[in-house]
Amino acid sequence: MPFQEDFLIEQFMDKHENDIKYNMGETCCYSLNLNELSSLTGESFEFDQNMRLTYGSIWGTPVLRDLVAKIHSSDEIQLTADNVLITNGAIGANFLVHYTAAGPGDHIICVDPTYQQLSSVPSMFGADVELLHLEAEDGYTPNIQKLKSKVRANTKYIVLNNPNNPLGSVISTEKMTEIIDYAERNEIFIVCDEVYSPLFHSSEQPKSACQLSNRCIVTGSMSKAYSAAGVRLGWIVSRDKDFLKQAASRRDFNTISVSIIDDYISQYILKHRNAVLKRNFDLCRKNLMIMKDFINSSNGKFSFVHEPEGGSVCLLRIAGVDDTDSFAVKLATEFKVLCAPGECFGVPGTLRIGYGNSTEDLVEGLKILKLAYDKTYTK
Ligand SMILES: Cc1ncc(COP(=O)(O)O)c(C=O)c1O
Repeated sequence: MPFQEDFLIEQFMDKHENDIKYNMGETCCYSLNLNELSSLTGESFEFDQNMRLTYGSIWGTPVLRDLVAKIHSSDEIQLTADNVLITNGAIGANFLVHYTAAGPGDHIICVDPTYQQLSSVPSMFGADVELLHLEAEDGYTPNIQKLKSKVRANTKYIVLNNPNNPLGSVISTEKMTEIIDYAERNEIFIVCDEVYSPLFHSSEQPKSACQLSNRCIVTGSMSKAYSAAGVRLGWIVSRDKDFLKQAASRRDFNTISVSIIDDYISQYILKHRNAVLKRNFDLCRKNLMIMKDFINSSNGKFSFVHEPEGGSVCLLRIAGVDDTDSFAVKLATEFKVLCAPGECFGVPGTLRIGYGNSTEDLVEGLKILKLAYDKTYTK
């Protein structure tokens, strides 16, 4: 059996998310129900009662794959259903990508901090994973010189996350192009987790990495920007069709296909994606203002590690507190407010806040966060 690390953030969430009152730990834009979707889209969701409950299309329905391809297309490069493999969430997509690509003898560079899956899974498959630490002076995006200095003869691929979880930093098209050009010259490919795309509410929208090279592998899902984590549907998008074929062939051994019900609901949401995205851009911008007011009136107790430019999460530095793990447990168990401890991302002294949650959860949660801090840390 390959050695598997504990997935810190998922274990923390699993332990605490069902017994809290205010949720600032969830990373999705406030999840929608079908009634809300109908009012947003102006078209009610109708189930096709005659749909046979089969395995469905193993790669995902052509209609859905085409809708996903459009999300990752531009005027210059139009992708099609053939560039898309539907998976069980972005977590299924990421797992499959690394299962397909990583093995003993491979050296892989992965940004840090990021969602732990992106470094733990390739390491589980025997690859040597080296972390590329993101720094404030680079806007918490990869430093090209540092990246170059890590490349070895056996470097196989570089793992990026745009926008970044937990920082909310965004890699611009210019920087992504620079990284990809360098990687291609060295026969290295890029894997980019774009699960928070296209939530670029406070920055220019960069191009999807698969627009910039025919060797980039991109993952995404319905969970964050489309507020539908419960359908557990994600995707791998690439112009490298051989890679997609290899991934699909590996997937035959575990999930076969995604639920046709999830596929069907996802088609409905993506047909109306602009209405859903408008709701979530408005939500993130409004809630980010609330976060800023909270920080500005906190007398330095709370500050952004990085003011987020995209996505729905950010890291909040908690002044004078090193052990934010214990503080997050206390917040969840005594104060019934969920925030994720920065320790899950290797950044103690911080809490990750999902500001894409409902405005009520954020407003009440922040009030209680301040109260809990004052009670616990000020005399
Ligand atoms: C960067 C990143 N990738 C992937 C995932 C998994 O997303 P999904 O719900 O689509 O499986 C998450 C969830 O938090 C994430 O933050």
